[in-house]
Amino acid sequence: MNHKSIAIDGPSGAGKSTLAKLLARELGFLYVDTGAIYRTVGLGASRMNVCLEDARAVESILPQMKIEMGYGEDGLQHMYLNGEDVTEAIRRNEISRYASLVSAIPAVRDYLLDMQRRLARENDVIMDGRDIGTVVLPHAGAKVFLTAAPEARARRRLLELKQRGQETELETVLRDIVQRDEQDRNRAVAPLRQAEDAVLLDTTELGLEESLKALISLVKGRLAQ
Ligand code: DC
Repeated sequence: MNHKSIAIDGPSGAGKSTLAKLLARELGFLYVDTGAIYRTVGLGASRMNVCLEDARAVESILPQMKIEMGYGEDGLQHMYLNGEDVTEAIRRNEISRYASLVSAIPAVRDYLLDMQRRLARENDVIMDGRDIGTVVLPHAGAKVFLTAAPEARARRRLLELKQRGQETELETVLRDIVQRDEQDRNRAVAPLRQAEDAVLLDTTELGLEESLKALISLVKGRLAQ
């Protein structure tokens, strides 16, 4: 059976995961947060004390990392590193930077590609990330590039971190976001960019309800074509 897939790409803090989760519920699709997979590799590599910019060193430890994904009773995606549930641990602020660094390494991307494509072969999926529409699922039935101004994204990220009990400053979050965008956009492999056939949705001026409404109508329109 052919499964349907929806690709949602964009920079961090654009609202991808919040919106994709709600859209998945609306459509009855499986939500796959691919950033969480890269975060798990970033966490694993940092725990093994390798330099995250050293592609060979990171590549050499990949076989020692057992990365698994599952869905809890809460219906949410959980990540496991060598059997340990790291779903919460990968949300720490420094892990964002680690994930961005390891995600620039071609061997890491290759290592994770099969896992992502298998999920889409076996389920109707909404997958969010940076290269879903361009590399992972180039034939996705609907592709959306979700973005917002850096300041708006930083404010949302700050709120999210606060809700997780991590106190930090808006300026720090904004600086991290701009730096990470730069890294994700300028890397040699699978850089963050809008696929030619993706629809742009800018949520700078939109609240959650409005963004979701726009996304649902856009995706339903595309899937019906
Ligand atoms: O979406 P996120 O902030 O959890 O992603 C963390 C990092 O992982 C991000 O800076 C870039 C990388 N990433 C990627 O390169 N490709 C993806 N499909 C998803 C995330």
